[in-house]
Amino acid sequence: MQIELFHDTSTATFSYVVFDEQTGDALVIDPVMDYDLPSSTVSRESVDRIEALLRRKNLKLHMILETHAHADHMSGAQFLKDSHPDAILAIGEKITEVQKLFRPVFNLSNDFPVDGSQFDRLLSDGETVQAGSIEFRVIATPGHTPACSSYLIGDALFAGDTIFMPDLGTGRCDFPAGSAERLYHSIRDGIYSLPDETRIFVGHDYPPEGRDVQGETTVGIQKQANKQLPAGRTLEQFVKFRTERDATLRTPKLLFSAVQVNIAAGQIPHTSAAGEPFLKMPVHGLPKLRSTPIRDRDPKLAVDLVDDGALLLDVRSDQEFQEGHIPGALHIPHDQVADRILELPACTQTIVVYCRAGGRAEMAKAVLVERGFCRVMNLGGIDDWPKSI
Ligand SMILES: [Fe+2]
Repeated sequence: MQIELFHDTSTATFSYVVFDEQTGDALVIDPVMDYDLPSSTVSRESVDRIEALLRRKNLKLHMILETHAHADHMSGAQFLKDSHPDAILAIGEKITEVQKLFRPVFNLSNDFPVDGSQFDRLLSDGETVQAGSIEFRVIATPGHTPACSSYLIGDALFAGDTIFMPDLGTGRCDFPAGSAERLYHSIRDGIYSLPDETRIFVGHDYPPEGRDVQGETTVGIQKQANKQLPAGRTLEQFVKFRTERDATLRTPKLLFSAVQVNIAAGQIPHTSAAGEPFLKMPVHGLPKLRSTPIRDRDPKLAVDLVDDGALLLDVRSDQEFQEGHIPGALHIPHDQVADRILELPACTQTIVVYCRAGGRAEMAKAVLVERGFCRVMNLGGIDDWPKSI
């Protein structure tokens, strides 16, 4: 088995090609799609370097493995899938947790699957996988993200951002659902239980002054010399250190662009009406949108608003809704509005809420206003609606 390392200097990311020269079978770990942020342009130089090796060695690409949904670069998996359509794109099965977490962050619609189905295969902890003649074991190493997986191929562990070179330490744990405690166990109980001579290939390197970029170390060296988590460190010591350190770290430059692409298996998850690919970013720090008062219980105004595109929301029970409702109304029982808020359109959309007499509509309205919906009217009861039902 041979390992070829590729380094993307702009994101300090390592991608790896693992191949069997005898059989010509290969897999790729963590390919990078180049992205120029100022011009929002993607390109494939990094993937082309991998492709050149595959061609030069006449390799068949069986699998593309992601160690996790990266926050610092976009995955180049789709470029590779384009030229190797049979290659299986795989990631740790807990990617579903990351998708659930981030779908609302990127205002992705409910059509965006959170079952990992954008990937060809989801890998579970301890599973052994065959990629042509190459066999590897999946070791779940959560902590940096809940979905981090490391891949053990022969004596080589591809650890992603779980652990870095010994003079750097470990991955950060402050992304949503990251956990210093879980990272500690992933390293101490997982990686450090492998034989000392196991080689570790890391996902990034940010070498200190005077050291060249390196991607390879060993379990034995890490246990001795990892600056942040040597074998003797206690859980309490590590969690305290990691938490304090993470509080000082800056948000990665490509966090928002990268994560929305990587939870979609390297695809751009939004398109314009004309089918053009788009990224979407949340904006933080603004004062909360102020509610624009709309007079409640004004049926004529309600009709005008609905004619102008306002959403009618029926918050009565399932049975009441089935027995009759205002045509076109969306139905969410009042006590489910908070949990099902993502089924509603953007918070700038005007919403007209009704129930039987106006009480439940008032409660639903309070939830909507609290969640940032700025134009909400309580119509009152269904019988107040002047049009025929
Ligand atoms: Fe990462």
